[in-house]
Parts: sequence; C-alpha cells; structure tokens
Amino acid sequence: MKRIDPIVSEKTFTLTNNATGETYDLPVLEGTIGPQVLDIRALYRDLGIFTYDPGFTSTASCDSGITYIDGEKGILKHRGYPIEELASHSDYLDVCYLLLYEDLPSPEEKEQFNWSITHHTMLDDQLMTFFRGFRRDAHPMAIMVGIVGALSAFYHDSTDIYDPMQRMLASHRLIAKMPTIGACAYKYSIGQPFIYPRNDLSYAENLLYMMFATPSEEYQVNPIFAKAMDRILILHADHEQNASTSTVRLAGSSQANPFACISSGIASLWGPAHGGANEAVLNMLGEIGTSENILEFIERAKDPSDPFRLMGFGHRVYKSFDPRATVMKETAKEVLNELGMVDDPLLEIAQELERIALKDEYFVSKNLYPNVDFYSGLILKAIGFPTNMFTVLFAISRTVGWISHWKEMIGDPDNRIGRPRQLYTGEAHREFAHVTHRKHTKKPIWSWLWGGKKNES
Ligand code: CMC
Repeated sequence: MKRIDPIVSEKTFTLTNNATGETYDLPVLEGTIGPQVLDIRALYRDLGIFTYDPGFTSTASCDSGITYIDGEKGILKHRGYPIEELASHSDYLDVCYLLLYEDLPSPEEKEQFNWSITHHTMLDDQLMTFFRGFRRDAHPMAIMVGIVGALSAFYHDSTDIYDPMQRMLASHRLIAKMPTIGACAYKYSIGQPFIYPRNDLSYAENLLYMMFATPSEEYQVNPIFAKAMDRILILHADHEQNASTSTVRLAGSSQANPFACISSGIASLWGPAHGGANEAVLNMLGEIGTSENILEFIERAKDPSDPFRLMGFGHRVYKSFDPRATVMKETAKEVLNELGMVDDPLLEIAQELERIALKDEYFVSKNLYPNVDFYSGLILKAIGFPTNMFTVLFAISRTVGWISHWKEMIGDPDNRIGRPRQLYTGEAHREFAHVTHRKHTKKPIWSWLWGGKKNES
C-alpha cells in the first residue's frame, strides 16, 4: 500500500491565551509533500473552542494518498504521476485503475479491468423506463442525479459498504454505466432511440457511439474525437477535495450506499462555480459574440457591483496556472486544426479574451488564470456535444475520482461521520407566544404563492 499515515512532527505550534497567559501546544502533522497541518482535533475537548473556516480555505478535511496539488507551482499529480504525463501516455481506464488501485495496471491487470468495465456498461432494462418519466426538456444533469441515485434500487448486491467485493463491484458498475446514463439522457432529450453500448469499442469511443449513432445507419467513431474525448476524461478524473468530492465523502461518512453518494456528488458538481463552468464558458463566449465586445465584458467582470465573472477563470487552489488548462488548450487547437476550424470565431474570442485578461492588472493581481473549463467547452462543441451535456461529461470523468475517495474513506479505520460545527449568530433565547399573540414584523416572502391556493401540477 502506497498510502502513508501522516507523521506527527517533533515541532508543535503553541497557542497563547492573551487574557490568562495560558498556553496550549497543537501537534503538527506532515504528509509526504505539501504544507504542514495543525492537528486541532482535541481543541474543543481541551479548550472548549472551535475554529472558523467557511469555505475550507485553510482546513484539511481528511488525509488522502490519491491526488496532490501544488497551487502555487501549478502541479497536479495522481498517485505521484504528473497529469501531463498521464494525459500524453495513458488512456482513461489506465488512470481509473491508478486512482482506484494505487498503481498503473500491468498488461494482465489492464486486460481484466477493461473487461470488467466493458461488461458492466448496460443498464437494467427497467431503468430505461425511468428516462421516459422525465420531461423531454429536462436538463441532463437533473436526469443523471435521479438515475444514479436510483441505481441503489437495482443493484442490491453492491450496496454493502463493508464487503470489499461489493465495493469493487459498485465501483466498476458506476464507472461503466455513467457514459450509458449520460448518452441516454441526451438521446431522450432529442427524441432519438437509446443506443446500447458496444463491447468492441474503447471507453471514449463507446461514449461517442452511444451519443451520436442512430439505429438507421452505420456510425464510425472519428479517431481524433475519440483521442480528444479520452484526454478530456483523463484531465477531469480527479482533483483532490473539491466541492463534489467533499460532498461524496460527507455523504459516505454516514455509511450511505455508493450510488446515493455519487448521486450527491453529481448534484454538487452541477453548479456554475464548479462543474457547470464549462457550459457557462460557452454561453459567455456566445454572449460576447465578437472580439470588439471583449473589453466591455472584462470591465463587467472587474466591477464589484456586477455579479458577472469571467467563466473559466480563477481557481481556489491554482494561483499560477492550471496544468490541466495547458493540456486542454493544446488539445483544443489539435481538434479544431484537424477539423479545419482554426478560424472558429469562438476560439478566436477565447484566445483574445485570455490574452487581454492575462495582461490586465485586476486578473494578474488576483491570480486569475484560465482553468480547465476555459478550453474544454470548445473541444466538446467541435465534437458536436450540446452545451447542456458538458457538465454531464465532467460527471462521467469525475466518477472515478469520487469513487476512489469514497473507497479510501471507507477503508480508513479512523473514518468517522463528518459533522462540522458552527458559529451560531441567531437569537440567544425567545419566549414562546401563542399564534394569536404573534405580530408580523416582515411581509412573508411566500405571500404571492398564497394568493393562488392551487395545487402545483
Ligand atoms: N472573474 C472575475 N473576478 C473573479 C473571478 C472571475 N472568474 N474569480 C474570482 N474573482 C475575484 C473575486 O471577485 C474576488 O475578488 P475580491 O477579492 O475583490 O472579492 C477574488 O477574485 C477571489 O475570488 P473568490 O471568489 O474569493 O475565490 P474562490 O476561491 O472562492 O473562487 C472560483 C474560485 C473558481 C469559484 C472563482 O474563481 C470563480 O467563480 N470562477 C469562475 C467559475 C469557474 O470558472 N469555475 C470553474 C473552476 S475549475 C473547475 C472545477 O474545479 O470545478
């Protein structure tokens, strides 16, 4: 096992109570690389105080041996391997194996793993009726949250989280079925028949085939698209304790089944500040329309009274550059070149926007650089994906990251239910009054609903 327990450093960190002069030594923990960590676990027990860190900007919520990020230097590594090398020399299932099982697979392991994923791609036929229960104009992420949550109602033989075989089966099923679920959500939205997976195709090829083939004619997967798709999958496979991964861990800490946990991760990913950003980037580039309008949008992004932000810019952790964005930009150029789309107007706007923003004092001083989502949307659009499928593709790629973190957490003997505390700022105490003695001080915000008194259909 490559995972190493944190080392308790010989150093300590001393807190001093300025009022009483009392001191308290906090242990310092060290990982393999990365900043040292103050161990505050006994703080409340010993001193009766909490720490306050909304947004977790200075808090390590767990220890993990899966992914390492150095945001200052723009480094991303999975199990020690730099993302650039994995993106250039591996394929997506190699990376899945690495994240799940700590090592890149040997030829036999790769063959067995690929076989298992390939042979779990189909969905229980009863699940197909679930898709038909949605409105045709439902967002595919809404469908995905529902269908993935429903998997726990179908695969009872892989919901016992304490059985390692069942955990493995659930992991393989989730990785294998996500492209089928995503493609079915798309097919349903455009009124086309579902396309079943083919076992002779690779993971990325199968995804494209299920998305774009129809039963009425033969469909050849474009190898350039398949290569680009595979790279996009690799680049999104895992990213340490981001919002959706932390959501999966928190859901899993209560011992919920893996399908329910992954469904919660998909819901968290959907937001435009996280996985929804690639969809938002394309919408923004379309709204900008022509290069002449770029400055106006840059000014809006800088205006503190305007909620508009440059989508695809900035990152909580990366403060120099996002290494995934570098690979993604190259891939975008490759794909658009191959398609003869070098003059694509959106690519031109994207490149010009990046050039101007990277020289602008506001973006430079706040360390705002293009992130992975800035260029991924252009590739996906060139391949033919509608924008509302972009976050679905992110969810498909990230499933292996979520499941690897969930598996790591369940296997950790120190795992406890996640239960953050709070800084309470509400009323300290109020005397109860009977309804006839209460006066409204504010108009209830739902009063407009009350007027109709109808059941919602
Ligand atoms: N455009 C304009 N200003 C920005 C932007 C942006 N894209 N991002 C951050 N800022 C400003 C922000 O207004 C704040 O200014 P001030 O200090 O004056 O209040 C400062 O930069 C710090 O921003 P923050 O919101 O406190 O930083 P955060 O770490 O909480 O947020 C972020 C990170 C990614 C949510 C944010 O940069 C953002 O909203 N970016 C656009 C959405 C996006 O591209 N998201 C995809 C992230 S990468 C994919 C993933 O991992 O999911």
